[in-house]
Amino acid sequence: MSIIFETPRLLARPWQPETDAEQAALLYTDPLVTRYLGGKSAEPDLAAVRARLHRYAAVDEGKGALALVEKDSGCIVGAVLLSRLPGRDAELTDDYQVGWHLRRDRWGKGYATEAGRAALARGFNVLELPVIYALVEAGNTASVRVTARLGMEALGPTTRYYGGEALDLFRLTAEKYHRR
Ligand SMILES: CC(C)(COP(=O)(O)OP(=O)(O)OC[C@H]1O[C@@H](n2cnc3c(N)ncnc32)[C@H](O)[C@@H]1OP(=O)(O)O)[C@@H](O)C(=O)NCCC(=O)NCCS
Repeated sequence: MSIIFETPRLLARPWQPETDAEQAALLYTDPLVTRYLGGKSAEPDLAAVRARLHRYAAVDEGKGALALVEKDSGCIVGAVLLSRLPGRDAELTDDYQVGWHLRRDRWGKGYATEAGRAALARGFNVLELPVIYALVEAGNTASVRVTARLGMEALGPTTRYYGGEALDLFRLTAEKYHRR
């Protein structure tokens, strides 16, 4: 299995929908996890989780939604995204985002920040992206705190992405990243 990147406590690798679905259900059937994700509602069953993972598994050169595996336990604890943003018409744009989803029992450990930091490093150092965004729904303060810890700048609401939904936009430029 190809590891795309790793951090002190986590590995990021492509999803394997058939074998990962049961663990991913701990994430995507939990309404507190899916509350601020596109689609909003929790997946109703394992088949729906598997279908979601099939969408996520379509990664290209490590770009997309990757499974996050906790090194100590070998458990899947979430997902990290480094992916192209869908625009107003839902077609993919050339703009990239970072993102994070964690199982509820792994919140409060710094995993999202740790994975996000590694995804940004990959985006800037390997993919040589000029800018990386994050899109956060109003009220998702835990996610806003992750963007702040990663040094991302708040640009305010936008309707440029995700089919025109109003979301708060955060940005880190390569210039600022390399200056730090
Ligand atoms: C958004 C989400 C990933 C944030 O999770 P989180 O646990 O708050 O974020 P981190 O993993 O970065 O952990 C940071 C917290 O762990 C604490 N922490 C504990 N040990 C730590 C360590 N070793 N290193 C860093 N932080 C640590 C920090 O103090 C911080 O807590 P605070 O925000 O209360 O100060 C999580 O709430 C989630 O999965 N939500 C559902 C999915 C979602 O909405 N995703 C975002 C869509 S935009």
